Parts: sequence; structure tokens; C-alpha cells
Amino acid sequence: MSVREQIEREIRQRGPMPFSRYMQICLYDPAHGYYSHNAEQFGKAGDFYTSSDVHAVFGRLLARQFDEIWQALDRPPQIEILELGPGRGLFARDVLDWSNKKFPGFYAALTYTLQESSPALQAKLRDSLRDHIGTGRTRVPEERPSLAQRFSAGEGGKDDQVPEGRPSGPSRTLTPETPLIVFANEFFDALPVEILSTHGKLHIALENNRLCETWLPPLAEEMEFLDRYSVHPEPGERIEVPILTQNWIQQIAHAIPSGVLLMIDYGYTRNQQLAGRHRGTLMAFRQHSASPDPYQAPGEQDLTAHVNFTALAAACAQSGMQVEKLRTQSQFLMGLGEKNQFADAFEDCRIPQERAKVALQLKHLVTPVGMGENFQVLIASRAIAPVKMTSLSGLSFGN
Ligand SMILES: C[S@@+](CC[C@H](N)C(=O)[O-])C[C@H]1O[C@@H](n2cnc3c(N)ncnc32)[C@H](O)[C@@H]1O
Repeated sequence: MSVREQIEREIRQRGPMPFSRYMQICLYDPAHGYYSHNAEQFGKAGDFYTSSDVHAVFGRLLARQFDEIWQALDRPPQIEILELGPGRGLFARDVLDWSNKKFPGFYAALTYTLQESSPALQAKLRDSLRDHIGTGRTRVPEERPSLAQRFSAGEGGKDDQVPEGRPSGPSRTLTPETPLIVFANEFFDALPVEILSTHGKLHIALENNRLCETWLPPLAEEMEFLDRYSVHPEPGERIEVPILTQNWIQQIAHAIPSGVLLMIDYGYTRNQQLAGRHRGTLMAFRQHSASPDPYQAPGEQDLTAHVNFTALAAACAQSGMQVEKLRTQSQFLMGLGEKNQFADAFEDCRIPQERAKVALQLKHLVTPVGMGENFQVLIASRAIAPVKMTSLSGLSFGN
């Protein structure tokens, strides 16, 4: 059954579906969802590229940051990195290779867990990381829906209608007391959102066998989210409400006994929304072109919404984590690279032409016209002295 047929069947059986459910089926339907059925979304030949597709220096600089975090935790004998939504695993490979080469103490303590819901991408990860998996230090657990997932699958959902591969929170592989770094790059912007307008909450219905939009009353929880962390839509606006992301962040915060959450994503703050920006950020991507129409090709195009950093930071703070001031990717990478003039980027270059190419790639990651200003970095920690956190290289640029 195609994604469209699956959506239509569910609407016939259960009535209009909330937009988050539509987005979930489009992206994560186990057979035909955008992320489930193929593993070729990334890079030049795919629909979009992420920082790890640009150059290995992204993972190498982050390896440097993870090593410093391990030191700030007083070099525990074991530490776990849990990467959420690793995609095809380029980042993990770069971090593991560089840590092995440059930070042997940290590497010896490290277990790297990759939590990926797409079966196609899981298979790709197991193949591309087989050397590291062979050492027993790298793990790609199979995702199976838990009871909590079934429950969270939504408004009246029955077991047989729950798409697999949508875990309801982080699943680490070491014991809960082991220090943990949770890392997520462009993960939260791929989670389903609700959409609210002055007419109510967006649902998808069927009219004359065609998908159409209809508006129903929102839940109290969704209105409360707007009151606290976002803005109420003006006529003509559509504002996203990322309730699922809030649930994820709460669970992640609880899962970190000591350690750090480090997430990088497109996003905005409530103040920016109050100033009139980012008031509706849902986009569809296909073959590197963006479209505001999420209904064009269900299951064939990526759907994404910017993250609300005000809400994410609040959820971390409410769980007792120390939250650092938001940094742009540019500030963060400059802090990590400036001490050794980005030697991590140029180490493999043998000839000037190679250096010139890498310099361009680095520029793309760091400068405002590239990815440097569009992406922001949220860091929250638990059980690390504030002074140790603020002296991390990634947080030191401009201090
Ligand atoms: C936009 S991609 C980012 C991939 C990668 N982090 C990168 O930077 O290249 C989002 C990834 O999150 C994965 N994903 C989405 N929801 C997930 C979930 N609930 N559990 C695990 N992975 C998930 C998708 O399958 C996809 O690989």
C-alpha cells in the first residue's frame, strides 16, 4: 500500500488525521515512508545535504569537543555517546576515526550508540561502520516499538495501525548511571509537528477522494505551548507546535545522569517569533529544491520544520540541567578550530589544490552565507561544574 493509500485508509477508518500523523506516515511509514524505503536521501545525489556531507572536519571538531567533555567529567572509565537520527553515519565514522587517532584515552572509554529508526539506514550503518562495530564499541540497536510508543501513536490508534520505528525516547545501551553525551544533528527538525492557525488545529480529511485540509479545536496542551514558548497565529499564519519534540527532550534530559546534550539544528527563539520571524517554517525538500507544499508527493519528499530553541532550553532547565547560551554553528566551530587554525581539516591534504578545496568546504560550514548562521547549537549539561562547561572550546569563541 502506498503512503497516500495508507493515509486515505486511515482517514476513512478514523476520520480526519492531525497533521503530525500525516507527517509521521509520510516520513516513517515502515514500508514506504520517506526515511524508511531508501537510504539515498543525503548528499549531492539525494534531496539535501547536512554538515557531515560537506567535510569530515565537522565530525573531527566535534570529536575534539567530546574529548573535552569527557575530561570535564574527570575522565570516567566508560562514557556513552548516543547519536539520535544518525542517517547514513558519516558523522559517527568521522568522530570514531578521529578519536581513535587523536584522543586515545577518550576512545578507550567510549561506547558509541546510533539510534536510527529507518531500517534501510540501519542496514547502511551496520555496513559502513562494521570495523568499529567489530570492536564492540559501536552499536546500532534495532528499533522496536515499545508500549509507550503504541500509546503515543496517537488519538485512538490501534496496535496494527502503529507504524514501526518510531521510538518514544532515547534508548542507550550502557547502564543508566554511565555518563552520557546525547548528540543530534538535524534530528529534531525531522520530527512530526502539529500546525495551528486562527481556525484551529490542522487536520487532513478526504473530500471526493482527495486529501484536503480541515481545522478542528486544538488541545489545551497545544495552546499552552503557544502561550509559554511561541506566539499565537495571526490571520493567514500557520504556527508549528512540536509536542513530540518536547516529549523527546524531557526523556533525554532524564536519561542523562551526568553529561551533556549537544544538538545542532535550524531553529528560532520565541523572541525572534515575537519580532515577526519564523512564524511558520514547515518545508518540503526534494532533489535540493524547497517547496512550501507538504502534500505534493507524500512519502517522496522530506518534510521538516525548524526547532523552537526556547521550548527546548526550557525543558532542559525544568529537568535540572544547566543550559548554555545558544551559539551559532559558526561561533561553535570557530571556538573549536581557532586554537590550531583548523589543523583537523587540513591534516590529510598533500597538495595546495587539496588545501584550497578543503578551505572552501570549511568556509561553507563556518561562514554566515553557508551553514554557519542558519544552524544553532544548544548545549545543556548535568553534574559538570559551570566553569568547566564555559571553558569548553566550542563555547569559548568571543569570550
Ligand atoms: C534529517 S536526517 C539527519 C541525519 C544525520 N543526523 C545528518 O546530520 O546527516 C534525520 C534522521 O533522523 C532519523 N529519525 C527520525 N525519527 C527518528 C526516531 N524517532 N528515532 C531514530 N531516528 C529517527 C531519520 O530516519 C533520519 O535518518
